[in-house]
Amino acid sequence: MFSVAAAAAVELLIRSPLRQPRRVRRCVSSTVYALHFPALQLHTTKPTMQFSQEDFEKAKEQVNLLKDDPGDEVKLKLYALFKQATQGPCNTPKPGMLDFVNKAKWDAWKSLGSLPQDGARQKYIELVSSLISAESSGQVKETSPDSKPGYATIEVTTKDNITKIMLNRPKVKNAINTQMYSEITQALEEAAKDDSVITVLTGNGDYYSSGNDLNNAASTAAGGLKEAVESNSALFKAFVEQFIDFPKPLIAVVNGPAVGISVTILGLFDLVYATDRATFHTPFSNLGLCPEGCSSYTFPKIMGLTKATEMLLFNKKLTAAEACSLGLVTEVFPDNTFQKEVWIRLKAYASLPRNSLAISKQLIRDMEKEKLHEVNSQECKCLKERWQSDEVMNAVLSFIQRKSKL
Ligand code: COA
Repeated sequence: MFSVAAAAAVELLIRSPLRQPRRVRRCVSSTVYALHFPALQLHTTKPTMQFSQEDFEKAKEQVNLLKDDPGDEVKLKLYALFKQATQGPCNTPKPGMLDFVNKAKWDAWKSLGSLPQDGARQKYIELVSSLISAESSGQVKETSPDSKPGYATIEVTTKDNITKIMLNRPKVKNAINTQMYSEITQALEEAAKDDSVITVLTGNGDYYSSGNDLNNAASTAAGGLKEAVESNSALFKAFVEQFIDFPKPLIAVVNGPAVGISVTILGLFDLVYATDRATFHTPFSNLGLCPEGCSSYTFPKIMGLTKATEMLLFNKKLTAAEACSLGLVTEVFPDNTFQKEVWIRLKAYASLPRNSLAISKQLIRDMEKEKLHEVNSQECKCLKERWQSDEVMNAVLSFIQRKSKL
């Protein structure tokens, strides 16, 4: 999504991850993984091929970079595969009943039976690779039992006539990566057609969202910049279009600070409820970017030209109370009662007649639709140019490098 110079600079930064401070390595871990294991990538596209000893050695190093404890079961599996890969089938004496830890390890190793050493090596590498990619994507494995299948970065549930779309990458403050853009688009498309009366967007964890995932820059660098900019731009445009065209009441439950695109699209929501802990920040010029999500049109309309300018050009961060007084937020609630109060209210709204609400929303919004699509196209055109600029490159690099200075 960034200039060739940016791509090259980011690549340089991540090509030598072992020389970088640990926090830098973490920040770009998904790309580091791809670059760290070029051979591995090649092999994984052909599942019948074997991994090399070098790949195995690299996987061993990568285990040490995992920042989350993967749990006892996975650790035992890693241990067993490692032993099988390096020593072959388990033929050591069984530890005594009271030697719990060693017995669990012995059992795990023994359970691999006569799995060949090559096979164990391959499984070990695959397991490490899956742990690293799950960690770097910030995905949360546990989801609610009612959640709809097929989503990895968001959780979608429908209950009490409400479809709730929850941004679900709390470890990275719900930063929106390309996968999340496309999953939200799909979830909205489905919600538009389902039986729910209202649709709610909210975040999991302490943030509503930290906006565009700045690591996207690094991850697209390898695949051809121009092509990446084109495809990301199309994805982004389609994402905003879903909000413009959404046919039923769409409500934002802003559970914490909101940054960038998560703020700009608020002008396309019908109601915005916020905790008093929320802040609203669109640091576009800090990043060399320009407004998106139709905010260049909706913000001046909602809050007046000069207040919109303060936010969109000069990075003014609003408190929830300020955002409410400017009309961007409908109502602010104390954080300790936020979820309870808001959901009581939403349930009451969702018991109103579905078609009446949808028709009324469309009457209010439809006159603006054509204009909003035009604005979206124009903003996306400017963004495409911005994403390839040196100003953006420098801003993203300083975000990545900032971590090494902490
Ligand atoms: N893109 C990618 N990763 C992000 C991110 C983003 N927009 N926002 C946060 N993260 C990641 C951080 O890299 C960090 O990852 P790590 O644990 O691997 O180091 C993790 O989320 C936690 O963030 P951290 O910066 O440690 O938390 P904080 O409370 O100190 O600060 C923010 C939170 C959101 C203020 C800060 O992360 C930030 O400024 N992010 C960039 C926001 C931005 O400019 N978005 C684009 C707007 S157009």
